[in-house]
Amino acid sequence: MYYGGTHSVELPERNLGLDLVRVTESAAIAAARWQGRGDKVSVDQAAVDGMRLILGNIDIAGTIVIGEGEKDEAPMLHNGESVGTGNGPAMDVAVDPVDGTTLTSEGMPGAVAVIALSEKGTMYAPGSLVYMDKIAVGPAAAGSVDLEAPVAHNLAQVAKALDKDVADVTAIMLSRPRNTRFIDAAREAGARIRLIRDGDVAGAIATAQPESGIDILFGIGGSPEAVIAAGALTCMEGEMQCKLWPRDDREREYASDQGLDLDEVLTTRSLVNSDNVFFAATGITTGELLDGVLFSGDKATTHSVVMRSKTGSIRSMRATHDFTKLRRLSALMDS
Ligand code: FBP
Repeated sequence: MYYGGTHSVELPERNLGLDLVRVTESAAIAAARWQGRGDKVSVDQAAVDGMRLILGNIDIAGTIVIGEGEKDEAPMLHNGESVGTGNGPAMDVAVDPVDGTTLTSEGMPGAVAVIALSEKGTMYAPGSLVYMDKIAVGPAAAGSVDLEAPVAHNLAQVAKALDKDVADVTAIMLSRPRNTRFIDAAREAGARIRLIRDGDVAGAIATAQPESGIDILFGIGGSPEAVIAAGALTCMEGEMQCKLWPRDDREREYASDQGLDLDEVLTTRSLVNSDNVFFAATGITTGELLDGVLFSGDKATTHSVVMRSKTGSIRSMRATHDFTKLRRLSALMDS
């Protein structure tokens, strides 16, 4: 940052997040065209195409570490793929062109397009292990939770950090049978619960936004989403802890073959080992974090958040896009 004067001049560095938001805007607009049409594959394909279109023009030598599609065999920006122009810093890239594919295809709230970037070699790669046990909190409760402790203990810790009663703590969780034990334990402890059908990246981010009313995230969700959420929480000074959650013996064997430690508690720092993380998200359908894409005539309006950990900047951005000037993107979306 340049502060003026004659003695110290530090040139501002480029905030790649401002480039990245164009990537998530493009994915969100493309995916939102498919809202409610009951076609998950087309939602994903449109978002991947929309994302790839802009990502290819960003000045980075990027490698996808967290790609889309392993779990659903969806159209991918695949792991190991090179992205960007190649002119620029070497970066790890984590993408989720649609977090909430079903939400989008069914026209339900809370779907977002997300991307995170950090220096090359700093992102954790979970391989094809698709699930992690997760806990996430915002800055006020960072340092007070422990993934391996009982739910009631973590709720009490968060209540203490936030100076409220456990009865006023709200825990967000994916509504899944595998998360029943977390739901039951939180109910028993007397906390409030917000169950979500999908979208635990936005759920984790919500813990760092006091106005969301969400204080802690528990439960087993996607591994790629864990790394991306850790990127966002690095920018927001929150905390994430995760553990790989194998579904069966085949996945346990895979972990051992790949040298992935199933007992390791992965901290925010072990998920994204960087002080210079860039994160961008754009709403596809309206949710607590972001408004969805609005279409009106030739115009599409988007709502995004852009963050950078090094400077602590968090920008909320609304943008209007003119279809007539986005011919290539329109062509993609209409195909
Ligand atoms: P997709 O949009 O990629 O399907 O992910 C939605 C999501 O709800 C994530 O937010 C979450 O981490 C994951 O799926 C949970 O997986 P599953 O739906 O298999 O329980």
